[in-house]
Amino acid sequence: MTAVVYTIASGKGGTGKTTTTVNLGTALSALGKRVVILDADIGMANLGLVMGLEKHAVTLHEVLGGSAKIDDAIYEGAAGVMVAPCGVSLKGFQNSNPERLKDVMGALVEQFEIMLIDAPAGISKDAVIPMAIADEVILVVNPELSSMADALKTKVLTEMVGGKIKGAIVNRAGMENVDIPKQKVAELLNTRVIGVIPEDPNVRRAAAFKTPLVINTPKSPAAVAYKRIAAQITGATFKEEPENNGKEGFVEKLAKSLFGGRKK
Ligand SMILES: Nc1ncnc2c1ncn2[C@@H]1O[C@H](COP(=O)(O)OP(=O)(O)O)[C@@H](O)[C@H]1O
Ligand SMILES: [Mg+2]
Repeated sequence: MTAVVYTIASGKGGTGKTTTTVNLGTALSALGKRVVILDADIGMANLGLVMGLEKHAVTLHEVLGGSAKIDDAIYEGAAGVMVAPCGVSLKGFQNSNPERLKDVMGALVEQFEIMLIDAPAGISKDAVIPMAIADEVILVVNPELSSMADALKTKVLTEMVGGKIKGAIVNRAGMENVDIPKQKVAELLNTRVIGVIPEDPNVRRAAAFKTPLVINTPKSPAAVAYKRIAAQITGATFKEEPENNGKEGFVEKLAKSLFGGRKK
């Protein structure tokens, strides 16, 4: 087993890289894949926070700082997804050497089938390394021009460092009627659009509950869109289910309180 490594990148901050990493990773794990997620946004880490894994002392910071082994910085999240969160301290960031990420990847690829790396925004060294070491880079864009321009820069940079683009995910779609349509995004970035995630208030709610959206409100429009992409990546057939805007019936609520997301 050698993991396929996907880096989730964007150029611009706040497009939905962390949301995408968390929910694709969890959905892929729920489909039975052995998945590991790395929070490589070492300066502005928040993936652990939205997954309820923020209290662990040993994180990717310590690993990239040379004081811990990666096996000691990996924790189990919802649906069995394994996660290496990153600390939030400035000191941890300063002590981290992003070049060690390649060794971390090497130590993990044989244990997993899929690795997702949540990359920082921008074009600094810590952002470029995850693009260079991935098998494929997934661009997360919003349907607006500034996001396109930044994603295009990220795409060119990825190709300059020998990386490969898998395609783009258009996130927060449908919020404005001036949205750039999917076809135009594909044209502007000269790449495939892997999926479109709608603007959905359940994304914020899930973050507040520190539970992945695909677990917290599995039938919400954005959750369904993420599950559809996960199925496409694994080649599984996706059973279209009715969406319900995150409003659950009594039975679903009961089932979730009994068996659902781990409470901290
Ligand atoms: N599809 C969506 N619908 C509504 N809010 C979203 C959506 N995707 C992301 N968000 C919100 O946008 C903000 C930025 O998302 P995040 O995943 O942290 O972006 P990044 O990691 O690229 O900086 C967060 O507050 C998140 O809850
Ligand atoms: Mg992020």
